Amino acid sequence: MKEYIRNFDISMGFLSYYLKNYKYRIPLGGIGEVDYERIINLVDGHVKDKLQICEIGSWTGTSSVLFAIYARATKGKVFCVDNFKGNSNLLASAKKHDIKAILEKHLKKFKVEEYVEVLKMDSSEASLKFKSNTLDVLFIDGEHSCPGVKKDIELYWPKLKVGGIMIGHDYFHSTVKEAILEIFPNHKHERYLKGKTESSIWYIEKRR
Ligand SMILES: C[S@@+](CC[C@H](N)C(=O)[O-])C[C@H]1O[C@@H](n2cnc3c(N)ncnc32)[C@H](O)[C@@H]1O
Repeated sequence: MKEYIRNFDISMGFLSYYLKNYKYRIPLGGIGEVDYERIINLVDGHVKDKLQICEIGSWTGTSSVLFAIYARATKGKVFCVDNFKGNSNLLASAKKHDIKAILEKHLKKFKVEEYVEVLKMDSSEASLKFKSNTLDVLFIDGEHSCPGVKKDIELYWPKLKVGGIMIGHDYFHSTVKEAILEIFPNHKHERYLKGKTESSIWYIEKRR
């Protein structure tokens, strides 16, 4: 409970700062306060020493910094996997800007860079770097096509430790939902509304 409140306060403080001071004319990755709250709630249930986290899809780092706050708190590590080519509404910005440099600036700004390793490559290539049963938390927010989401889930699920959690974004994106329903019909998505915004976080815990 203590850990929950501490990480919650630090993280929400970061998010409001981040959004107020975001000066780039580049669309954000779509993670806002409601998703933050859901992620914090889920990760708090899995906090342990040296938390090993892998995020697929970092963009300019809204979610990366949140995970890095957990890595700093537990002396663990976050692997940020992104080819920085963007997708859907991010494609044009990815061509114009050095997104990786912006992500790294944000990690430095929040003094979490030493807990993060950025892997600039395709998620399938990056998956080869992880041994089976080594990650505590996996966050899926890369490709959003049905085959793309399925590929990420299938490649990374074996990397998760038993007792670990896979969390994903964009539950209401039809192709994302289609992939999750196909692979994990028993996944979870609790309705969580704040004002008119609903959290689009889904998750599944690895039981065995
Ligand atoms: C929606 S954005 C991620 C947003 C981020 N989680 C945030 O909080 O701002 C999706 C990201 O996935 C990356 N991506 C898409 N397909 C990928 C792939 N096959 N391998 C690695 N990264 C990929 C894109 O470059 C983009 O940065």
